[in-house]
Amino acid sequence: AEKNISSLIEKLEKQHSLDKKGLIMLLSMENPSELYKAADRVRKKYVGDEVHLRGLIEFSNYCHNTCFYCGLRGPNKAIKRYRMEPEEIIECAKRGVEMELKTIVLQSGEDRYYKITTLCNIVEKIKEMDVAVTLIIGELSKKEYAELKKAGADRYLLRIETTNRELYRKLHPGMSYENRLRCLMDLRELGYEVGTGSLIGLPGQTLEMLADDLLFFKKINADMLGIGPFIPCENTPLEKEKGGDVNLVLKMIALSRLLLPDINIPATTALAVKDKDGYAKGLQCGANVIMPNIGIEEYKRLYKLYPGKVPDDPNEAVNSIENIKKVILSQNRSIGKDKGYRKKVFH
Ligand code: 5AD
Repeated sequence: AEKNISSLIEKLEKQHSLDKKGLIMLLSMENPSELYKAADRVRKKYVGDEVHLRGLIEFSNYCHNTCFYCGLRGPNKAIKRYRMEPEEIIECAKRGVEMELKTIVLQSGEDRYYKITTLCNIVEKIKEMDVAVTLIIGELSKKEYAELKKAGADRYLLRIETTNRELYRKLHPGMSYENRLRCLMDLRELGYEVGTGSLIGLPGQTLEMLADDLLFFKKINADMLGIGPFIPCENTPLEKEKGGDVNLVLKMIALSRLLLPDINIPATTALAVKDKDGYAKGLQCGANVIMPNIGIEEYKRLYKLYPGKVPDDPNEAVNSIENIKKVILSQNRSIGKDKGYRKKVFH
């Protein structure tokens, strides 16, 4: 079995493809250190030692969706809701640019309060600062995606969360898997860099489903992949469930890097919340991006997808830019100097 596993990793490292059975075998490895090392080599070869910082602004925590795992779900009356004014968002972005960040990420719940023209205006103003703009604002129409692209948005993240239709349906009442796919296809057609990804450790999720997720990432040729542990959140239907396993997340990151060698993969905030060395571990297993939170303190603690994101002392926040820079340097990696688009060196 040992030899078998080694030859699977070797094949992946050379050919960047593997069948479902092989992926399941690697996902079930008890000692994944060889897998992690292979992913680290491929990361270094294709995207180098630079870690790209993406400055995150969580501009509204209103959401009309009801995702079972998420603290921002509409029916959760236990959290205070906020919306940032356009001027406030632009001010935040400006501070991010002054901190030498080259990408600004605008994230929110699915909040229909902001008109597309308003969002386009915000994107245009931020693009004037000569940075890349990423949006994480959920499912919209193709026309809306097109308007935001025209305003200058470069990238869009929309996690598929799970590719298992049945599990997807259970966790997302009122939503449809087909519409989520439609969104990803529209974004690709419109010329965005497209990111997707999964939650790891959802109740009922199996290794087989995770192997399917990996094959899906490869099939749609994702430009970015956000992969993090599910963290149970109070006042949600899944509050009593068990959370995702850090090593399983790291295996998913490593396998993603091996399948798609030149893409951008963050060490996610959820990974760093779940494990105090989460960012460092992610960077060692194939990740090359981290997203510092550059929003406003009072709002950060209200953007509660899951617990543990914001400690009492904001200076202790895992995703503060200071902490993140320290981690990157401690790993003998450097901070990305350009906008950090997908390198597209592998076809
Ligand atoms: N634990 C971890 N990640 C979560 N997200 C939402 N809720 C949770 C949770 N409880 C993730 C989803 C979403 C992203 C913005 O946050 O994957 O796509």
